[in-house]
Amino acid sequence: MNRIEVVQRIINKINAKKYLEIGVEFGTLFFRIKAQKKIAVDPQFKFSLKKKIYKLFFERGSKFFEMSSDDFFKGNSGLFSDQKIDVAFVDGLHTYEQSLRDIENCLDNLENNGVVVVHDCNPLSESAANPSQDEAKKMKGWNGKWNGDVWKTIVHLRSMRNDLNIFVLNTDHGLGIIRKGAPENMLDHKASDIENMKYEDLDKDRNKLLNLKGENYFDNFLNDLCAE
Ligand SMILES: C[S@@+](CC[C@H](N)C(=O)[O-])C[C@H]1O[C@@H](n2cnc3c(N)ncnc32)[C@H](O)[C@@H]1O
Repeated sequence: MNRIEVVQRIINKINAKKYLEIGVEFGTLFFRIKAQKKIAVDPQFKFSLKKKIYKLFFERGSKFFEMSSDDFFKGNSGLFSDQKIDVAFVDGLHTYEQSLRDIENCLDNLENNGVVVVHDCNPLSESAANPSQDEAKKMKGWNGKWNGDVWKTIVHLRSMRNDLNIFVLNTDHGLGIIRKGAPENMLDHKASDIENMKYEDLDKDRNKLLNLKGENYFDNFLNDLCAE
């Protein structure tokens, strides 16, 4: 199961109308997703000519914002005043600080039954987990995969927010799945501790820190979701 299937099945299950993707790059996910209204945010879209032509003809209902997610949320709050976000995919800058801000901004504009999916929550090596991609590239074991320290955002939200139900699906670099509601369980880390956590802390205890679930769990989760 990959992010395309996960996001589309959530959209279908809750009959989602509005989909937001932060960090779109080539549009590998964005152009495959079917939803009534789609919004793409990226400071630099990297669409091929074929995708640009596709966008012109088949994505006329979609909106494209070539800017950072911070600028997008600062300047476009009106976009969500009538109709909030049903499903968001957060895949912009892969740092703790930025991914946390992106998720919180999505949550502020999310329907009550909406879902935020977060990419790159389960790095499998120290280099993949380095918050700087430039530093990661110089490290032993670098294999081109970069997830950054988005995992810390999951630990942060699981420690601080008793109004969110959060788990990470163990597929496609770890898909964090966040919705409003009671947590299954919480962590008790302080923000300053999380800042200082290292990859080895994650590696020792990833099931607990991430509330990591196998792919089979996804059907239970979907059964629990409802269209409003
Ligand atoms: C891994 S790619 C996204 C891939 C895409 N979501 C997919 O599934 O095919 C990450 C993208 O995030 C974008 N990005 C980096 N900083 C960003 C920011 N502050 N706001 C929004 N997007 C950002 C980069 O330009 C890059 O295109």
